[in-house]
Amino acid sequence: MAPLVDEPMADTRDMFLAHTALRREFRLLPELIRGVAPGDTRRAEVVGAHAAMLCRVLHNHHEGEDLLLWPKLVERAGAEAAAIVPRMEQHHHAIDEAHTEATGLLGAWRSTGQGGEELAEAFERLLTVLLEHMAAEEREILPLAEAHVTAAEWHRLGEHGMEATPKQDLPLVFGMAMYEGDPEVVKAVLATAPLPVRLIVPVLGRRRYASHARQVHGTTTPPRVGR
Ligand SMILES: [Fe+2]
Repeated sequence: MAPLVDEPMADTRDMFLAHTALRREFRLLPELIRGVAPGDTRRAEVVGAHAAMLCRVLHNHHEGEDLLLWPKLVERAGAEAAAIVPRMEQHHHAIDEAHTEATGLLGAWRSTGQGGEELAEAFERLLTVLLEHMAAEEREILPLAEAHVTAAEWHRLGEHGMEATPKQDLPLVFGMAMYEGDPEVVKAVLATAPLPVRLIVPVLGRRRYASHARQVHGTTTPPRVGR
């Protein structure tokens, strides 16, 4: 059923916050892994914990889309959705496979520091399909969502991501998304949050990501990818 015409529709700009952060961090990951000397378990644990956190963020992001976005588009956007949603689902499937392969290798590398090259290559395969997927989603899915999904429904997608993220990771994940994010969009994302959250989260997020990036990337300002 089509949404009511006078309901505000989705503002999808926040998808770019998530996608830009995922692009940047997954692009940097293979070289980070290759930079760990074989057997250096201390460094492998730092980079490995970072990789595991990224994998959780990616998984939650796609789970939300599978549950809350594709079905609405299929129901409401007719032939346009039929032309693109199956491709999106195929991408998610291919990403899942690459993700399972990478996370399967990750545990052993974290604890032994051995098998880094194999792991870096698995993350490169994940990156290839992830980049293709996000570009197609931005080009073809977001305009459909703006036409067929209400603002309230879109908001649920963001909530799903937050609910699925462990509480202690939230400031870091938010800071990671804010790092290259349009400040206007960051403001819009927080607009419905209670005042203390609106005040504290940006400050805490920026600080958490800066110290995390210093530890993982060796700088508080890792290279930006832009949109
Ligand atoms: Fe997405």
